[in-house]
Amino acid sequence: MEQTLVLIKPCGLERQLVGEVITRFERRGLMLRGMKMLQMTDELINIHYAHLREKSFFEGLKESMQYAPVIAMCWEGKEAVKVVRDMTGYTNGRKAVPGTIRGDYSMSSQQNIVHSSDSIDTARVEIDRFFRPEEIFSYKIHWRQFYATDEI
Ligand code: TYD
Repeated sequence: MEQTLVLIKPCGLERQLVGEVITRFERRGLMLRGMKMLQMTDELINIHYAHLREKSFFEGLKESMQYAPVIAMCWEGKEAVKVVRDMTGYTNGRKAVPGTIRGDYSMSSQQNIVHSSDSIDTARVEIDRFFRPEEIFSYKIHWRQFYATDEI
């Protein structure tokens, strides 16, 4: 099974969408393997958004990730990275398709409620960035409630 990282951004907490976001992933059939609330530091943001450091919006992005805590989660399932990314929607909430989290709750390309990993390789790195190994829980899951036997 694949694992992926989701952050509920400060705007998601401010908008009281934490339960809503979690419920969407749960109802889809993804399994929660780890979850914590934390304050993003400058250091963490510089690493997490290293690919955007030269962008004009970087300072704004930093501020938007720090004015309240974030919720970090590790979700697991078959092709979880793509499934979660599709549920997240396009970066700009105004362009995101209705039915996606951003398409339903965001009008902004910065205040866009959630972050989700964009590839399998990135997901591995991002999970390790936010969680120690003992903070990821490998409890038993009855995958047959979500997948046909030959898919598991
Ligand atoms: P990016 O990695 O391009 O998108 P995504 O979050 O969909 O993977 O950008 C990371 C974050 O940077 C994005 O969620 C919000 C912020 N951002 C802006 O503030 N303004 C912008 O124009 C863009 C493209 C991103």
